[in-house]
Amino acid sequence: MRTIAIMNNKGGVGKTVTAINLADILVRDHGKKVVLVDCDGQRNASRFLLPHTNLEDVITVRDLLLGEGEPLWDDNVQEVSEDFLLLPSTPALYRLDVAAIMGNAEERQAVHIKALRDFRMAIEEDGSIDFLLFDCPPGFTTSSCAALLAASEVIIPMVMDGFNFDGITDMEEQIASMREANADIRITGVLINQWHNADVVHQGEKLVRSLGLSVFGTVIRRTDKVPESTFDRSPIVSYSPGSAASQDYRSWVNELLGEV
Ligand SMILES: Nc1ncnc2c1ncn2[C@@H]1O[C@H](COP(=O)(O)OP(=O)(O)OP(=O)(O)O)[C@@H](O)[C@H]1O
Ligand SMILES: [Mg+2]
Repeated sequence: MRTIAIMNNKGGVGKTVTAINLADILVRDHGKKVVLVDCDGQRNASRFLLPHTNLEDVITVRDLLLGEGEPLWDDNVQEVSEDFLLLPSTPALYRLDVAAIMGNAEERQAVHIKALRDFRMAIEEDGSIDFLLFDCPPGFTTSSCAALLAASEVIIPMVMDGFNFDGITDMEEQIASMREANADIRITGVLINQWHNADVVHQGEKLVRSLGLSVFGTVIRRTDKVPESTFDRSPIVSYSPGSAASQDYRSWVNELLGEV
């Protein structure tokens, strides 16, 4: 099983769109079985994938982080489709971050920071899942740290602007600092998102490819079909199969699977 955190300290770079479409294409085109964990209190992935579920009524990542999940891993997840399972999130997840800073000792101790690692181990032991993905929130929050303790790989979506470049160096340092607790973790690659034909993008791409980081050869082009697909709550390959982003995400998943 590959265990991948989709993470960037920077917000709004395409982490959730990438997590959803990666999961969808792995299941749809490659026959893989996928578990996606929504680690973000914004719960964009959960609302997108389970629009009719009341997230207050189901087990979420917050329950696992509080040690309140079900003992069998698959009793904690919701079915998006037969081969696509989701551990959702709710805004209540933010309360863990507040408690970590403002809470008393009991509240701080209530967080099981290794809960997602234990969740991974249980899934791995079961042997039926091919990919475990974490859609991380922006910033090193309780749940993103828990995801980085559980994952072996990190994919960093980024867009080409100066503020993203400041963040990318910080990301490298922070992931290196996680190695004390998770020796396995490595950056599989930076994924250039919202690519378009402009000087600033060409220059940014040249710069990011010169930093010595692993950067995917495939880039994801900018297209309005992506924000449209978020209103429609359909993965890009169903919403607009002929769009640039649909083609790019399919090519990129092939690259990730080592098929190009
Ligand atoms: N290839 C693309 N072309 C055009 N718009 C895109 C593309 N990818 C993402 N977007 C848009 O960029 C915005 C941010 O995307 P997304 O929510 O996936 O980012 P994020 O990194 O998960 O954000 P957050 O840090 O808030 O979790 C959304 O409005 C999305 O529709
Ligand atoms: Mg997101």
